Amino acid sequence: MEENVEKFLEGIERDLPRLYLDEIVFSNEDEQRLAMINHKFYKSRNCYASNAISLLAAIRQYVSLKKINFSGNPSYHDLANLYYSLMTGNSTLANTRESKNYYSSAVSTLKNRKNPKILLLGFSTVYSLENLAALIHLSNLDNPKIIAFDINKQPLSEANVYCGTKLYNVEIEYEQGNAILSEFFEADSFDLIATHLFLTHIPDESKIRLINNVHKWLKPNSKFVDDEIIVPGTIDRNKYAKYYRTLGRHYIPPLDHSSMEKVANWMEKFGTYSIFFPYNDLDKLHRDFSKFSSLRSDHLRTRNIYSESDSLLRCPVYNITATKMRT
Ligand SMILES: C[S@@+](CC[C@H](N)C(=O)[O-])C[C@H]1O[C@@H](n2cnc3c(N)ncnc32)[C@H](O)[C@@H]1O
Repeated sequence: MEENVEKFLEGIERDLPRLYLDEIVFSNEDEQRLAMINHKFYKSRNCYASNAISLLAAIRQYVSLKKINFSGNPSYHDLANLYYSLMTGNSTLANTRESKNYYSSAVSTLKNRKNPKILLLGFSTVYSLENLAALIHLSNLDNPKIIAFDINKQPLSEANVYCGTKLYNVEIEYEQGNAILSEFFEADSFDLIATHLFLTHIPDESKIRLINNVHKWLKPNSKFVDDEIIVPGTIDRNKYAKYYRTLGRHYIPPLDHSSMEKVANWMEKFGTYSIFFPYNDLDKLHRDFSKFSSLRSDHLRTRNIYSESDSLLRCPVYNITATKMRT
């Protein structure tokens, strides 16, 4: 098995230059195998996991930049695909070691449930869906199903093309809708609701409605799991957008200077999208979840927002686990 993994990774690395010359494309199965290697080996001493995630990022960076340059007028999600690949998938659900541990322990609580249904809220790119499906598969759940939910059509149709209705033996159903409206799902529908930096994208006046929907849709004794950033005070939107330019440096395929500038410009444009409404303090978040019988917020890491006269504005990110009461 290990020899096969090594050969597979070497083969992808060897073929990358041909991707950059547009002589070949990698298959969806190749990408899915890279993601799975990352999840299977992240705890082991070899470097398979880090190699796999870097190769996946290199492929996705090239493919998403090509699409953006071709269209000339990319959508938010086209830019999001480039953004997440420049981040090597970090900043998506279960991509870092800590985030994998957190979401996989939530998934493993479903081991004794039959046909567990998991709602993935607002997944943006295939990284989140693929990571969640991999964790579920590795936890050997009994006939699990993910309902991948987003307000926008693009992530749903891209994921459908990428993996269809099954990924790593986990059934996937797609649903387009607004999570602030409650009619989408019946009460007590889900064994787990998972998301990542989602409340940050919900305007403040709608956050409570969304949280109440999450409470309603969860089965009793089930959890909502999420990572959220807390940004105290107001932020300088200009500096925030400009800081995204620095992501251009993470582009792996070969690029000349002017193309590098282009990547930086696209990322600055991504940073100007004003769908960023983070909580300003953790107490407010706790109050909004008061319907839940318990809420845990564990400090996960800090995230850089932008530089402020030679120092970085760093904000805390928390794992949020809310449990609905047993009835
Ligand atoms: C930044 S993404 C969240 C990041 C993603 N979970 C990840 O880990 O990569 C926010 C996503 O939520 C979706 N979204 C925003 N508001 C929504 C709403 N009211 N209902 C459903 N989806 C929504 C957006 O279309 C976008 O795809």
